[in-house]
Amino acid sequence: MEHKFGGSWTELKLDTLRQYLKFYTTALNQKFRLHYIDGFAGIGHVTIKEGSKEKLIDGSARIAIETDPPFDQIHLIDTSLEHVGELQQLCANYPDRECHILHGDANLEIRNLLEKINWGRNERAVLFLDPYGMEVEWSTLEVIANTRAIDLWFLFPLSGLYRNTPRQYTAMDEHKKNAITRCLGTESWMDAFYEESPQQELFGPSAVTRIAEWNDLLMFVQKRLGKVFPKVADPLILPPEGAPLFALFFAISNPSKAAIKLSMKVAQHILKSKQPTDTRSRGGH
Ligand SMILES: C[S@@+](CC[C@H](N)C(=O)[O-])C[C@H]1O[C@@H](n2cnc3c(N)ncnc32)[C@H](O)[C@@H]1O
Repeated sequence: MEHKFGGSWTELKLDTLRQYLKFYTTALNQKFRLHYIDGFAGIGHVTIKEGSKEKLIDGSARIAIETDPPFDQIHLIDTSLEHVGELQQLCANYPDRECHILHGDANLEIRNLLEKINWGRNERAVLFLDPYGMEVEWSTLEVIANTRAIDLWFLFPLSGLYRNTPRQYTAMDEHKKNAITRCLGTESWMDAFYEESPQQELFGPSAVTRIAEWNDLLMFVQKRLGKVFPKVADPLILPPEGAPLFALFFAISNPSKAAIKLSMKVAQHILKSKQPTDTRSRGGH
């Protein structure tokens, strides 16, 4: 089966994950029982487009399975039954890895899974959220943060948020409003993104328009994450050139100073190494 999406920037994202997982299990495998949790696991490989060519690369599930030293438990979630079938075949090739495949919506499955694990002194996890769009609910991020034991990599759908916030507020329907509120966990985005413009005509209705550009949306999301997680790294904007589609965030839920220092240092180093050296090429929507 083929799983086609993304471009060369998808490789940047997955390399970031690969490097972090390697650091993580190497640093912590003697002290803790380590879990890898993938909310949007895919099928184990991805076909990306590079110019006019296609390239097959390892997906997040295979990257996690092949991480050495290994994770003690790998939990792979996907809502597609077909993808779940592919994940089962993938895991069958690695009998020495403990894989658990969960079929369902990531928000629900993550909540159920995190409830079952006793996040005491011994359990630690890396959790990867790699949705196509705005599927991740804010309440899921709160549940993750409450464990105080999970390092989160979250691909936030910047362009999805941008598309769902039309320039004219009147073009916004209830469905869109609810989707944004579910994604950001607050209604304060309305005041932050929109402003009433001065009346154009005497006695005419005043127009409410979006004043926030994509970098304002980004700052808003980063601030929101910072309210729930003790520390959030500056994200990697993807793709590195042209109109931004996603922001790859790293956030740590463990409040311990030592944990924050170590994980942040490594995550920031990896993220920085993926930044383009010339940021002038960054465009808007
Ligand atoms: C961008 S792909 C993930 C790719 C994967 N991380 C990789 O590197 O190969 C998104 C995946 O999420 C799945 N998906 C979509 N909505 C979902 C949801 N609400 N809960 C769980 N999985 C979902 C899709 O079936 C798809 O496999």
